[in-house]
Amino acid sequence: MKKEGEIEFIKDGKRVDGRRFDELRNIKIEVGVLKRADGSCYFELGDNKVLAAVYGPREMHPRHAQDAKMAVVKFRYNMAPFSVDDRKRPGPDRRSVEISKVSREALDPVILREYYPKAAIEVYVEILQSDAGTRTAGINAASVALADAGVPMRDLVSSVAVGKVGGEIVLDLNAVEDNYGEADMPIAMIARRNTITALQMDGNLTKDEFEKGLKLAMKACQQIYELQRAALIGRYNKDESAKSKDRGT
Ligand code: CDP
Repeated sequence: MKKEGEIEFIKDGKRVDGRRFDELRNIKIEVGVLKRADGSCYFELGDNKVLAAVYGPREMHPRHAQDAKMAVVKFRYNMAPFSVDDRKRPGPDRRSVEISKVSREALDPVILREYYPKAAIEVYVEILQSDAGTRTAGINAASVALADAGVPMRDLVSSVAVGKVGGEIVLDLNAVEDNYGEADMPIAMIARRNTITALQMDGNLTKDEFEKGLKLAMKACQQIYELQRAALIGRYNKDESAKSKDRGT
């Protein structure tokens, strides 16, 4: 295995995959890809491939877990056994429990939970292929799937990671950068208000580096928000044009 010092993270001002420091990986978003779910989204972020499905709001079971005042959001992040280089042992582990909790907390502030007392809103995120940043891709996908399900929301949540590699602050780390870099900071935010709903940090950053990273993340979340919004609008425009074709208009 290579160690941190052995990798040339930055060459001629470019990163290992040729990106600029402030460049996102390619993003592809498809809405409404699953028939059974109330809402769904397929999200690609570079080599990450993620599927989100939303069920509800529907009655919460078991009943003793109901909240009499608002809906309970359940979030399950799961990595497919074939999503990583080594087979991932199926089932929940410490990491997936942590990511599920953080992702739920990232989305909670935008969901109008008070509209649905005693209900459950279930969010399932399946990582089909992973290349670092899966929790951010999962939050982006879940946010779109919630909107697709018609869950009333104040806004969408957008998420990206920033970090430090080869002494530089960079946006949206890939697997090599994440595994061997100096710091990784996934952030989720309500892009239009620059309100942070989740922030984690692995490694160390100075105050200046943190602020620089935050700025990069804010700009990128705006870009992601626009793509999420466009994907949702595209889906419903498509439905409308299909309907008008049926009507012969
Ligand atoms: O995916 P994310 O960056 O949100 O979380 P992480 O814990 O920082 O994991 C970074 C990357 O390590 C994942 O995206 C996977 O590519 C890889 N990983 C893995 O290969 N096997 C695991 N059991 C967990 C993570």
